[in-house]
Amino acid sequence: MSKKAAAKSSPKKAAKTAPKAASNSKSLMTESRVFKPSAEFSKKARISSMAQYKKMHEESIKHPDKFFGREAKELHWTKPFTKVLDWKCPNAKWFIGGKLNVSENCLDRHLDGPRKSKAALIWEGEPGEKRVLTYQQLHREVCRFANVLKRHKVKKGDRVIIYMPMIPEAAIAMLACTRIGAMHSVIFGGFSAESIKDRVLDCGAKIIITADGGYRRGAVVPLKKNVDDALKGKDTPVETVVVYKRTGQDVHIEEGRDVWWHRELEYVDARCAPVAMDSESPLFILYTSGSTGKPKGILHTTGGYLLHAQMTCKYVFDLRDDDVYWCTADIGWVTGHTYMVYGPLALGATSLMFEGAPNWPENDRFWKIIEEYAVTVFYTAPTAIRAFMKWGDEWLKKHDLSSLRLLGTVGEPINPEAWMWYHNKVGGGKCPIVDTWWQTETGGHMITPIPGATPTTPGTATLPFFGVDAAIVDDLGKEVGVNEQGKLVIRKPWPSMLRGIWGDKKRYQDAYWSDFKGWYFAGDGARRDKQGNFWIIGRIDDVLNVAGHRLGTAEVESALVSHPAVAEAAVVGRPDEMKGQGVVCFVTVKEGIKSSRELGEELKKHVRKVIGPVATPDEVRFAAALPKTRSGKIMRRLLKQIAAGELIKGDTTTLEDINVIAQLAAGGED
Ligand code: PRX
Repeated sequence: MSKKAAAKSSPKKAAKTAPKAASNSKSLMTESRVFKPSAEFSKKARISSMAQYKKMHEESIKHPDKFFGREAKELHWTKPFTKVLDWKCPNAKWFIGGKLNVSENCLDRHLDGPRKSKAALIWEGEPGEKRVLTYQQLHREVCRFANVLKRHKVKKGDRVIIYMPMIPEAAIAMLACTRIGAMHSVIFGGFSAESIKDRVLDCGAKIIITADGGYRRGAVVPLKKNVDDALKGKDTPVETVVVYKRTGQDVHIEEGRDVWWHRELEYVDARCAPVAMDSESPLFILYTSGSTGKPKGILHTTGGYLLHAQMTCKYVFDLRDDDVYWCTADIGWVTGHTYMVYGPLALGATSLMFEGAPNWPENDRFWKIIEEYAVTVFYTAPTAIRAFMKWGDEWLKKHDLSSLRLLGTVGEPINPEAWMWYHNKVGGGKCPIVDTWWQTETGGHMITPIPGATPTTPGTATLPFFGVDAAIVDDLGKEVGVNEQGKLVIRKPWPSMLRGIWGDKKRYQDAYWSDFKGWYFAGDGARRDKQGNFWIIGRIDDVLNVAGHRLGTAEVESALVSHPAVAEAAVVGRPDEMKGQGVVCFVTVKEGIKSSRELGEELKKHVRKVIGPVATPDEVRFAAALPKTRSGKIMRRLLKQIAAGELIKGDTTTLEDINVIAQLAAGGED
């Protein structure tokens, strides 16, 4: 780092008292260094001072009609809206009466000027192929594929499953759905056949878009085979499977059901008018984990979601026409939806997409890509940053990263050590970091620095975005004091909020709106420091955050008990230096079954098979019984302590001493 850069980014002052909140990481409790954006960055930014941020935030909360009415005019509306918001908790309607089309906003409207020949998507495959799609080319491909969907009788409102590798065709398929008003549901490639089946049945999809395979760390992920297994012998609503040829390996083609993507394109032309959709028309469903065994199909709608996606790219990433922006998330997660596809394209930016892993073929793959494409804005996850730190600085030093001007993180709390490393080593001490807190349900950023305005401190997501009325409250809904831990709630509707859980109105009400009347409870614990910054502590429900991926403990438990040897299972998280949390399973076996290390390994494999590699347990421990309260509730708090090695030390991989647990239980809770 140059001296000049170091001077610009040096801590301004240290807080006198350390925050008292409970936290897994000691440094998150004591961190107090403040980094202000450089004058140079602020001067060019759309929002360049805290006064400007505060004024806009105040207006967005006090006069949402005015604020969002104005911002929404930056979208292209086929028919203008007549009212900004209609709110009857828990049902929000934004931009009532308005009609628009998402693909038209992301593509067509950029074709009239110089953006026509600008790169919309820059793609690199794991083996190293490179492709650039200009706005004009992407538009053409989307129209052609929309016509393929129409050829297969996909209509407005139909559900389309997309289970693809990280290739441009995944984004093309999503945008094609939006063009004709169909809803997509993208499934992350790390989910198994059974997970695909559950989602197909839940949303009633009539078509699946997939590929023969995808590349990951040099291996081929058998995507088509997983789809075949998901549909095997089952009475599913799926009539068509479109297969993109990516890897070229042999795959089974089911006559009358499966068609090749490239062949289908031969039958269609490139003219496809966008369908004008109501602002509140369903746009997509994205499944995520909750506190039961069944994933929730989070429903997002059109106008509000697109506005929030575009607005956050504009104000949080401050994206410009000359930026090369790279979000490393997979398209199968909400970050890939909002910040690889919809937000940047709505704004007319250049979005980079990479198919593979950061350490393939070597640990410097990301840095190589940043150098080669002169990436300016880089958005990744703390778990990746911790891995880069572990691999060592020499991998970075081989590359020129000076094109970077802004960095972002998402997915889990970032520990100050990782923040500092990211700031100094990746950003050369000159790039602001936006630590963005949000969720699948929120559609886009909720608590985040504004890079040209907000002073940041490593580990805090800082302050609410426009329209976000966030607070930290106790169980009775009373705001807690400075640095006291409580539940993070959102007290007003915002444009990109989820509109429901697919097919389950009651679960929507119960899961999000029943803890506090009229407020959204996010499932996270947090505290606020005396500057008003929000420090996210993590999930306080039965949801784990493993390497930035959400995983329901109940989901893993139900996978475990589906194994014939298992009588009962309880799953908890334990702190993990790299992944944030690791998955620990406590299992009791059925009469006549002997627990063993081999059985433990088999159960890990079983969970992988049922949910997918994304859920692979770190550890399986056997016990004669699970510790329970007298009313039969599993004492998770105790198991968490045991998993973290706080109560029982030494080698406990095979048999827990149930007496110890029982003793602890006796003195514990009921
Ligand atoms: O616990 C929070 C954590 O990730 C959860 C949401 O996960 P998901 O719906 O999969 O969306 C991830 C990408 C938006 C939250 O409830 N989380 C997300 N971002 C942060 C975070 N925790 C702390 N700091 C963040 N910046």
